[in-house]
Amino acid sequence: MSTLKESISILQQEIASLSLELAADAEQFRLKYLSKKGLIPGLFDQFKQISADERKETGMLLNKLKQFAEDRWKDGLSLKGDNSASNAKKLDYSAPGIEFQQGSRHPLSIVANEIHEIFSRIGFTVAEGPEIEDDWHNFSALNFPVEHPARDMQDTFFVDKDPDIALRTHTSSVQVRMMENNEPPLRMIMPGRVYRNEAISARAHCFFHQVEGLYVDENVSFADLKQTLLHFSRELFGAETKIRLRPSYFPFTEPSAEMDISCTVCKGSGCNICKYSGWVEILGCGMVHSNVLKNCNIDPEKYTGFAFGMGIERIAILLYKVNDLRYFSQNDLRFLKQFKTGW
Ligand code: PHE
Repeated sequence: MSTLKESISILQQEIASLSLELAADAEQFRLKYLSKKGLIPGLFDQFKQISADERKETGMLLNKLKQFAEDRWKDGLSLKGDNSASNAKKLDYSAPGIEFQQGSRHPLSIVANEIHEIFSRIGFTVAEGPEIEDDWHNFSALNFPVEHPARDMQDTFFVDKDPDIALRTHTSSVQVRMMENNEPPLRMIMPGRVYRNEAISARAHCFFHQVEGLYVDENVSFADLKQTLLHFSRELFGAETKIRLRPSYFPFTEPSAEMDISCTVCKGSGCNICKYSGWVEILGCGMVHSNVLKNCNIDPEKYTGFAFGMGIERIAILLYKVNDLRYFSQNDLRFLKQFKTGW
């Protein structure tokens, strides 16, 4: 019997018994059996020397062996996602593509970014402070009297029952940190999450977001505050927007005011968003109280300042006509994917 036939059958068995687990195994396999100097081309060299009557049968066996080895090699390659020839063979270029799911920004981020852009165009920088605060930054430095109801357990989440450490109830705490650590002039906005112990409903939540504003320099006046807020309101809600300042009270500003804008929904003619008054409240503001400046080592004889704070949810509700605050924190994609702007 021809030794070539024997060699073919031995190789056939050997190849059938191999296990190829990685694309790297397949490469080893190719080098050993299929490459130019490999075993199978070696058998083809021997084939040239055999007698004419053996050629037909041996040739067939040899071609079968070669085909078998090539198939095994290609299967081996596709095992671990190799991108060489064997995979290309399997790609179907006419198959429909996989839809790319584009994400979208959270509506509160869109609104916060918009506010940030408006203020950065008029020279305000952005700063942030911690969400877990001490009594000094959240209350005392801000001139809250000791018996003030906002310090009551009703409103504030204390951490580990420690009366000195709480989740901040407003971003005004960041004002204190900025004034303590920087010399005037100061011109910044401070966005962030705040916490209050409230029952969750369509109109209230135990956490929400605010943007605080602060401007401290020589000769800063209430007129500067009013003009800054008018500019901001027109940029955010449209050039037709009117503002109205009503006297109010905050321990840390004097005088203090609350600001309304003309209702963006009914344009002032009356609807249930503005409770048929034509106006909606969007922020609290005032001139930084001299006690607060002193608490932060800023000389109130030399410097004055204004501050304001607004709720981001409240503004988002007006801009997008959302009627329930809870949507903002429920992560319902049907709600969230409607906000595709503001990248
Ligand atoms: N911190 C106040 C609030 O949470 C808002 C405010 C900020 C008022 C700055 C005046 C000045 O209601």
